Amino acid sequence: MSPNPNLPPTQTVASSSDPVNHVPVLLNEVIAALLSMESPAAFDQQGSRTLVDGTFGRGGHSRHLLQRLSASDRLLAIDRDPDATSAANLIAAKDQRFTFTQARFSELGKVLAQRGIEHVDGILLDLGVSSPQLDRADRGFSFNGDGPLDMRMNPAEGPSAADWLNTAQESDIANVLWRFGEERQSRRIAREIVAARPLATTLELADLVARVAAAPKRVLRKHPATKTFQAIRMYINAETEELDQGLRQGFDALSIGGRLAVISFHSLEDRKVKRTFKELSQPPQLPRRLPVRHNLAETPGRLVGGAIKPGLAELNANPRSRSATLRVIERVR
Ligand SMILES: C[S@@+](CC[C@H](N)C(=O)[O-])C[C@H]1O[C@@H](n2cnc3c(N)ncnc32)[C@H](O)[C@@H]1O
Repeated sequence: MSPNPNLPPTQTVASSSDPVNHVPVLLNEVIAALLSMESPAAFDQQGSRTLVDGTFGRGGHSRHLLQRLSASDRLLAIDRDPDATSAANLIAAKDQRFTFTQARFSELGKVLAQRGIEHVDGILLDLGVSSPQLDRADRGFSFNGDGPLDMRMNPAEGPSAADWLNTAQESDIANVLWRFGEERQSRRIAREIVAARPLATTLELADLVARVAAAPKRVLRKHPATKTFQAIRMYINAETEELDQGLRQGFDALSIGGRLAVISFHSLEDRKVKRTFKELSQPPQLPRRLPVRHNLAETPGRLVGGAIKPGLAELNANPRSRSATLRVIERVR
């Protein structure tokens, strides 16, 4: 994919020497998208900007954005994971421009209202899980280490993966594996899960899927349980509903000239972002014979370029970035 011609050339490349063990993905492109806004409307009367990092993680993007914001700008960060709080508190202790709220980004409207903020000038959603979440076996996200089968981004919210897998109907499990993982062996895996219940740990599930779903003659590039883990995580954390709400509330919260930047890591999410941004930026397709014409001047958004993918330098430095896609929309009315 070619670089976005609407964005300025990038100067910095994130490296693993960042002070957190999660290398921020598409960092230069995010900075260019959120901080190169030329519209004077993207600044308030005092000339200061308010940005939102809706997926703080360990602050990879937030730290770099703060370095480039002026003394009168502010950055409001959100993450649903309570583990994000300590990393956020370290920043907040040193930088008064920064505040953190433990919340879901589907609650963005409420969080802003609580702080008396009407509009913001830039929002980042960097979807999925962070490296520290994957690395901690006790969070249950990964098949690489053994831990409780949990997978909740906020362990205080809703049932764990084990709670759900041990009680759900076989057909519901199969549907989730198919819908959110596009797992071709969804029915066989669901049947084996039900037969093996109760499941308690990540490795029990990973080994079960490997037995059922591995294609013995093919060399696998990915662990055979990759799609199953992704699907269960998405379901347990209601990630599709979160993304729907996050995109709507994020766009509604933008000032005129403000931008929403979204990084997704698989096609299901990217399709949703692409479709939503299209609806916000293009007139609906009406049948030709209808005597109604949609006025382009009524669409509230403008696409800022197309799909932005990591360049070669980033792919080499951070293989995790390979499936990332960034899309950006600007509010124009
Ligand atoms: C890919 S990581 C973000 C990494 C971050 N940009 C950085 O560079 O450190 C995604 C983060 O978003 C959080 N998250 C995912 N869905 C969320 C939601 N609906 N609301 C709030 N936070 C969410 C996860 O807990 C995780 O910490």
